[in-house]
Amino acid sequence: MEQLRKKIKTDGSVLSSSILKVDAFLNHQIDPQLMNNIGLEFAKEFSESGVTKIVTIESSGIAPAVMAGLHLHVPVVFARKQKSLTLVNDLITASVYSFTKKESNEISVSRKFLNDNDTVLIIDDFLANGQAALGLEEIVSKTKASIAGFGIVIEKGFQDGGRLLREKGYRVESLAVIHSLENGSVEFENAEER
Ligand code: G4P
Ligand code: NA
Ligand code: NA
Repeated sequence: MEQLRKKIKTDGSVLSSSILKVDAFLNHQIDPQLMNNIGLEFAKEFSESGVTKIVTIESSGIAPAVMAGLHLHVPVVFARKQKSLTLVNDLITASVYSFTKKESNEISVSRKFLNDNDTVLIIDDFLANGQAALGLEEIVSKTKASIAGFGIVIEKGFQDGGRLLREKGYRVESLAVIHSLENGSVEFENAEER
């Protein structure tokens, strides 16, 4: 997605050879117009997949997921990282290991919002090692719902998440795929194709 790649170039910053900072439009401040176009792009990619629900994880997955839900006309459910006081029974949970934080956390979704006949599109802002995405997959797999695929805003192609999901047979659509962050500069994969 050309507009997204341009935004990453102009407003993103390379923190290290493995971390891209995008708090100016995705992780802290949010650019609604860009997010709307991101949602449109996901809706186009999955328009023939019979998606009935979008599942994401708080917090940064919510904005792109809501925009995709708007254009696909389906509800959006976000997995919680902390147990809510009012959300106590009938939770579906998965344990997610964060390589960045070197800790495991339980994520959960209320069973009430995942139906066995749902076709789920899983959306997230980043795909790095894939632990969050795999946690969401585990949650959906604990029901009889099916998974249409994964919609990712920024995939770091040099980390393992994309390969892990594709090897499991899932369709993964990433709107920008980063090949490298070496020497302080962002290099995209297949920039001419999208
Ligand atoms: P993984 O899920 O792919 O295994 O990633 P990891 O544990 O390494 O990442 C933990 C958090 O860091 C996630 O957000 C993930 O989206 C984010 N992240 C991973 N790589 C990058 C990167 O290069 N740049 C930025 N900006 N974020 C990255 P989170 O902690 O769940 O936070 P949030 O969703 O509340 O923002
Ligand atoms: Na995220
Ligand atoms: Na994040």
